[in-house]
Amino acid sequence: MPRHFIALADHSQEDLRRYLELARLIKLNPRAFAKACEGLTLAMIFQKPSLRTRVSFHVGMAQLGGQAINLGPKDIQLHRGESVADTSAVLSRYVDGVMARLYAHQDLLDLAANCRVPVINGLTDFNHPVQVLADLQTIEEKLGRLQGLKLAYVGDGNNMAHSLLAGCSIMGMHVAVGHPRGYAPDATVVTTARGAAASAGGSVLVTEDPAEAVADADVIYADVWASMGQESEAAERNQRFAGFQINEALLAGAKPNAIFMHCLPAHRGEEVTSGVIDGPRSVIFDQAENRLHAQKAILVHLLGHKR
Ligand code: CP
Ligand code: NVA
Repeated sequence: MPRHFIALADHSQEDLRRYLELARLIKLNPRAFAKACEGLTLAMIFQKPSLRTRVSFHVGMAQLGGQAINLGPKDIQLHRGESVADTSAVLSRYVDGVMARLYAHQDLLDLAANCRVPVINGLTDFNHPVQVLADLQTIEEKLGRLQGLKLAYVGDGNNMAHSLLAGCSIMGMHVAVGHPRGYAPDATVVTTARGAAASAGGSVLVTEDPAEAVADADVIYADVWASMGQESEAAERNQRFAGFQINEALLAGAKPNAIFMHCLPAHRGEEVTSGVIDGPRSVIFDQAENRLHAQKAILVHLLGHKR
């Protein structure tokens, strides 16, 4: 298993299976893990806002007997020019793990390269692997398996699209991305996902036709059209993505028992209608809850006292 949690693509199916099994056990019996990180400290660096990631990691460390320190954009010297390398070398002398939400993915790689302690990716402009680990746990809970299921992501070829392509393909799922022209996922990510899917019995479809993406899907997945840092593009994106809203008509093309997922935060009336996200197929709050359990599995495995 990798020493850091930077990308799902760094992991084998067996690695992800181990994390999912640990997450399941932790969710079933959290008290059994109450001392797994006793006396340990996680530093949490946030260059961007966060509700779920911040609170679930903080609470997760507390439930494991450890503690978390919140380092917002203005709290440390990164924004005043202290290098990522120096920041990580210094942090390594104080804490037992670092979770970071950064803009540039390269900064996260630099952080990991210079950190003696495990580094966990809490989202970059490139990917969001902790979210998708929790999503895989949720899909398995709701639909009983991962292998052979089809997940359709409709929207921007962004960080969420990249981690869904990686995670679903490794687990042998069929993953489809429906995106407007000019907003395709990264070509290298798609190629890697095709390779992973081929060896795991799944497949990858990337299309500009949302209906084709959604056809016969077991899981429909949405994300915002303008991500954090893209606020100035929001008006243009609202126009470009207009045909890519997940609404009742689009959902009709999926399997009758399909579930709807969203990493949140959501913009009702933009990427998804209220009828869908607040409707009977939506699993968004169970999905958000699983961030806690899945991330505790990562913390126990990477930081925790070995029993
Ligand atoms: N889904 C997610 O990561 O939410 P936050 O941005 O609130 O952490
Ligand atoms: N694509 C979104 C995901 C938020 C969890 C963003 O980067 O803002």
